[in-house]
Amino acid sequence: MSKILLSGVKPTGRPHIGNYFGAMKQMVDLQNEHKDANKFFMIADYHALNSIQDAKTMREHTLDLALDYLAIGIDPNISNIFKQSDVTAHTELTWIFDSITTMPFLMRAHAFKDAEAKNKEISVGTFNYPVLMASDILLYNTDLVPVGQDQKQHIEYTRDIAQKFNNTFGETFKLPEEVILKDSAIIPGIDGQKMSKSYNNTIPLFSTREEITKAVMSIVTDSSGDVPTNVYNIHKLFRTEEELKTLYDANKGKYKILKEALIDDLDAFIKPLRDKRADLAKDLDSVRKILEKGSRKANEVASAKMMEVKKAIGVI
Ligand code: ADP
Ligand code: TRP
Repeated sequence: MSKILLSGVKPTGRPHIGNYFGAMKQMVDLQNEHKDANKFFMIADYHALNSIQDAKTMREHTLDLALDYLAIGIDPNISNIFKQSDVTAHTELTWIFDSITTMPFLMRAHAFKDAEAKNKEISVGTFNYPVLMASDILLYNTDLVPVGQDQKQHIEYTRDIAQKFNNTFGETFKLPEEVILKDSAIIPGIDGQKMSKSYNNTIPLFSTREEITKAVMSIVTDSSGDVPTNVYNIHKLFRTEEELKTLYDANKGKYKILKEALIDDLDAFIKPLRDKRADLAKDLDSVRKILEKGSRKANEVASAKMMEVKKAIGVI
């Protein structure tokens, strides 16, 4: 049976292959499996506002992310791509959830605890991040939320908040489930750590061959064995273990040849995506229209849910 899908990405800059294999790819796969239900792919601009605090950058990143979604295969004819800020119900519902959510509950969030441990002063918006995310998901009667491993706790928060609301005001929200890919849960970066925009260790998803070459050539290779682990772990995304065994056995210790093979595989994979994105970028008006259409549909579903919520809490 087709299930309702919702996912989101923050418009914080160029996506990398970690974002793609860890989260974005399964958005496309699930979209194609669940053709008959509503599907929402959101540009989480209000979540990004915690870090992007410059209007020009926000506008650019937003349109960039819409292009990224389209280029990886989110199909605007069967899915809705929309901007979070276009649907005011997200922030409205966040306020309502805030009233039933305690501070100690939010203080258990990994992101908050990490910030505390580093003695960082965080904004109220960052503290409240999981509540806005619960609103994103619960407004659409979402069944499945395709995300990367590090978002698991946010979906648990979402279920807890939904349950608290249902217990307090009566059955209103469906409890969603996360969908996390097992074998590619955490994609390593060129230094072997988790690939992340914040660690400067990424291979951008739409990179040029030159960028791919530069990134791969700087993959850190340890000299402890014949197999360069960091190269191999990224290579695994593109070839079967048998294929890799043959290649790596034939080239023991020859890191340069192995890196060149990885460059070819990465480029073969990225080129069609890169070309499609470049094509789409020629007609930004169409992209803007897709966002408008997506937000119309999102608003329709979200306002119906808000009516239910407002009745449940007794403000109407
Ligand atoms: P970044 O760490 O690069 O800033 P984001 O926090 O924007 O990435 O993550 C966007 C999505 O991509 C999330 O669902 C996250 O789980 C997923 N993701 C990010 N980095 C990786 C990775 N290295 N491996 C797997 N998934 C990832
Ligand atoms: N927090 C998610 C991330 O950092 C982005 C996001 C915002 C999201 N709202 C969402 C993901 C709702 C799934 C569902 O990647």
